[in-house]
Amino acid sequence: MKNYYELSMSDKLTKEDIKEILLETNPEVLDEIYKQSYKMKENTVGKKVYYRGIIEFSNICAKDCFYCGIRKSQESVDRFSMSEDEILEMAKWACDNNYGSVALQSGEIQSEEFTQRVESVLCKIKELSDGKLGVTLSLGEQSRETYERWYKAGGHRYLLRIETTNPELYAKMHPSDSLHSWHTRVECLKNLRDIGYQVGTGVMIGLPFQTLDDLVADIQFFKDMDIDMIGMGPYVYSQDTPFAKFYENTKENRDKAFELGLKMIAAGRLYLKDINIAATTALQALHPLGREKGLKAGANILMPIITLQQYRSKYQLYDNKPCIDDTPEHCKACLSGRIKSVGD
Ligand code: 5AD
Repeated sequence: MKNYYELSMSDKLTKEDIKEILLETNPEVLDEIYKQSYKMKENTVGKKVYYRGIIEFSNICAKDCFYCGIRKSQESVDRFSMSEDEILEMAKWACDNNYGSVALQSGEIQSEEFTQRVESVLCKIKELSDGKLGVTLSLGEQSRETYERWYKAGGHRYLLRIETTNPELYAKMHPSDSLHSWHTRVECLKNLRDIGYQVGTGVMIGLPFQTLDDLVADIQFFKDMDIDMIGMGPYVYSQDTPFAKFYENTKENRDKAFELGLKMIAAGRLYLKDINIAATTALQALHPLGREKGLKAGANILMPIITLQQYRSKYQLYDNKPCIDDTPEHCKACLSGRIKSVGD
């Protein structure tokens, strides 16, 4: 087999090579590929795993994305929005437990009230942590002005998945209205970069109608957009969503999506070398050792859920989301065990 590591080191790894990696199904060859991508991780970003504790502070969402379990039209979802004190309690917990950074995530709301609320939380997190706790925002598409205000208030990283870089596939996954425009999303990513954020993006992997060429283009997009962090994970069946009818939720399909998720991490690591890549919760939803395997394939970031326990079951983007019965303490202990088991 090819030595993708050497090819990449001499800048000769091509898009055809990436496709070859994504096509591979032989377990022995795949193991060898993961060894190569792990070596790339060791020699670029190292074996240190960075934590971004996720606080999912509201599931109220104005969007109606066809694949998502908390989309606006999902009537069975019990909507919640945490108080500022609750959010700050979790940020304090993260700080006391030596997390370097938290990620504030919620459904997408565009309003002056929401903008102000996030601004205020950002200022207070800075205060309570003496400016030490980094904050990543994952609050969807917003106006440039809103992004600027949040940046000034202390949010210096932003995670906004493009979901897919194929506009036609994007159109199949979303209602066709101005709230769900692929071009707006790209515009948002450019604005974020322009303002000075460290920008993370990503895609879902194994979506109905998605081709391997789409995924190769996704990796190329991360490179062309000079992205700092990739958060990508397998598409996971989400009952009662419009997209569920296009996906047969069999073990075989789940295993395939999981393996493709790992191959995307490996290919991303080999192609982009020193980028940050998250081993996402969706991997864990499809395999009990999902995140460990993600780290082994080349990921270097974990996003432990630190949301207060009583809200976790209400933030189900997809079925079988892991850790919803856990507390932040459980997640912390569990993840450090998982990291050590990999040797990171
Ligand atoms: N499967 C996997 N990931 C999903 N997301 C939303 N719904 C699903 C699903 N069914 C992801 C999207 C979004 C992130 C917050 O959650 O990529 O950007």
